[in-house]
Amino acid sequence: MILGFIGTGKIASSVIKGICKSNINYNKILISERNRKISSRLKKNNKKVFILKKNQEIVDKSNWVFLSITPEVGKKIIKKLNFRPEQTIISFISSINLKDLKNDIRVKAKIVRAIPLPPISLREGPVPLFPPNKKVRKFFDQLGKSIEIKNEKLSINFWSISGMMASYYEMLKTISIWLTKSGIRKSDAQKYVTSLFLALSKDAAVNSHKDLKMLVKESQTPKGLNEQGLKEMTKKKVYKSIINTLNSINKRLNK
Ligand SMILES: NC(=O)c1ccc[n+]([C@@H]2O[C@H](COP(=O)([O-])OP(=O)(O)OC[C@H]3O[C@@H](n4cnc5c(N)ncnc54)[C@H](OP(=O)(O)O)[C@@H]3O)[C@@H](O)[C@H]2O)c1
Repeated sequence: MILGFIGTGKIASSVIKGICKSNINYNKILISERNRKISSRLKKNNKKVFILKKNQEIVDKSNWVFLSITPEVGKKIIKKLNFRPEQTIISFISSINLKDLKNDIRVKAKIVRAIPLPPISLREGPVPLFPPNKKVRKFFDQLGKSIEIKNEKLSINFWSISGMMASYYEMLKTISIWLTKSGIRKSDAQKYVTSLFLALSKDAAVNSHKDLKMLVKESQTPKGLNEQGLKEMTKKKVYKSIINTLNSINKRLNK
């Protein structure tokens, strides 16, 4: 199988790194020159990665085509590309819906929208897929955990949550800087904070079949530090602000 990527930015390179570490059976990965720095690094690290000059050449030579360009670029270039009906096209584009993709692609190819996130380079993390497709599900199950969603409106809610990634990292950064200011070396502070939140996330994932309320409750000692932290952040409407942000990202995606 030949895999082609239109756009070689952050998400394409994360997916390609994951594929290269996986047991996925593929013959070649074809990428475009753009971005030049990322594409040359990917080629250097894997003999099966080839850089082609034209997007159409990538489409012509691939069985599966991954659309990993921004929505603005996608709106301009997808309609100019000629796809084949037997191809599978996987779009990572956040805000072009299935109907518009079908209109621009013009042939009756299989089209799936997918939401991989950068930890896919480590073969970690969920990958929501819409509409369900068995082969695409199996593919992403080797890179992370596929989640098939039957309804596009519901899948947009997962896109909204994917917009919380940078603010989560900002929180880790803020806490690390605070610790550094007390005299701890930056690398030690960052190591401590990231491994603490990794451990908390692992515990939460292991307990995700239970109500997460339990973890909130069990992590507080009466009159303890966590009780104080939670009370102060609730009073400052931090959690309400998370809901407001999700709602406004969701509103933008549903326009
Ligand atoms: N980043 C994420 O975590 C993430 C997660 C899920 C989905 N997505 C979606 O994936 C898409 C790409 O996001 P990204 O973060 O990877 O963006 P990005 O890093 O900016 O990558 C976009 C890529 O498209 C290339 N490009 C621009 N114009 C092109 C053209 N005419 N032909 C071919 N390639 C062209 C860019 O090359 P130049 O650098 O040379 O301009 C760059 O390599 C977006 O639609 C986004 O919503 C992203």
